[in-house]
Amino acid sequence: MKKQFEPLFEPLELPNGVKLKNRFVLAPLTHSSSNDDGTTSTAELEHFDKRSKDVGLALTAASNVTDLGKAFPGQPSIAHDSDLDGLKQLATTMKQNGAKAVVQIHHGGAQSLPYLTPGGDVAGPSPITMQSFDESEPHDAREITQTEIAETITAFGEATKRAIDAGFDGVEIHGANHYLIHQFVSPHYNKRTDEWGKDRLKFPLAVIDEVLKVVKAYGNDDFIVGYRLSPEDPEEDGLKMELTETLVKTIIEKPLDYLHVSLMHVFADTKEEKYKGQEKVALLHEWIDGRMPLIGIGSVFTAGEALEAINSPNVDLIAIGRGILLDYNFISKIKSGNEDEIISEFDPNRTDKHHLPPKLWEQLNAQFYPLPRVDK
Ligand SMILES: Cc1cc2nc3c(=O)[nH]c(=O)nc-3n(C[C@H](O)[C@H](O)[C@H](O)COP(=O)(O)O)c2cc1C
Repeated sequence: MKKQFEPLFEPLELPNGVKLKNRFVLAPLTHSSSNDDGTTSTAELEHFDKRSKDVGLALTAASNVTDLGKAFPGQPSIAHDSDLDGLKQLATTMKQNGAKAVVQIHHGGAQSLPYLTPGGDVAGPSPITMQSFDESEPHDAREITQTEIAETITAFGEATKRAIDAGFDGVEIHGANHYLIHQFVSPHYNKRTDEWGKDRLKFPLAVIDEVLKVVKAYGNDDFIVGYRLSPEDPEEDGLKMELTETLVKTIIEKPLDYLHVSLMHVFADTKEEKYKGQEKVALLHEWIDGRMPLIGIGSVFTAGEALEAINSPNVDLIAIGRGILLDYNFISKIKSGNEDEIISEFDPNRTDKHHLPPKLWEQLNAQFYPLPRVDK
């Protein structure tokens, strides 16, 4: 390895004492390749075998905690005890080369897909009509009831218990990307007038508390609990950085092990109001106040870009999403001094080049997600 890349391979200790072998994180990446009932598939195991091998921390795809929260075809489920056998295999596969394996626990809320949920029912904080993932037409979401809110919080705890039983090293609470937890925080989605709307942080905090309660009851002291958030919404009436500041300053009081920001560019600036023009990771880092590491992410396709992120004072761990989909040897090529050989463009002419599960290859080819391509 070239000396300049050494900082990427420095270990990092989480607040609970768990040591990560390096600064790389496998981003949570929906692969649409679990079995139709949400159990683990062979294609999924092969994908994680390749992409977990070199990272310090490996995250699963968003995994639904209830059937009502299913938001992707081929989404992994952690909602049922019958998911456990496959989850055990997944944990073993992800951990076999020394990565800490963490399940991203998720509920789609208003973004769940009616063709995947029981009876086509979709519920979010408030009624909304929206189009999501692979839909060609919008769907309606109804208001989730107070009873269902309580059941969903319990379901996040039950999912955590299953993650423990399956042998995972931790869970990441998916509070990002406009899914249920984010929807409760965002004024664009949450227009409730009850306690769950008056206090926008009540739902995420209730989920965090439930997860931590289950970990205390059933997990070891070294079980990892992380939280992922999106700091700013694109919608005019959406979540602003000032509310994110309150959220961050509140959740760092909880015994969490890391905060993970969801960004398409790691050094993206704040768009509006008080913090306009300031780097989001710099603000988050300041607000976290040294309590826990910050995972940065966004458009890292080369070794130099990964290094630039880790050498910045605001990013402790760097997650790689599309970069590690394009080349599962992204990290090992840096390690062996062959970083110039990293594949950083999608090749639509070759179904075999990126070693992707077939359904994910099709989605990337159909440009579901923006991606550098050889034909553009
Ligand atoms: C194919 C694909 C699937 C994704 N699935 C998830 C997911 O399950 N959970 C999540 O929090 N983010 C998901 N994301 C967002 C990524 O984790 C990441 O934030 C985003 O791709 C930016 O990072 P990158 O530039 O390294 O790709 C997904 C992104 C892509 C491209």
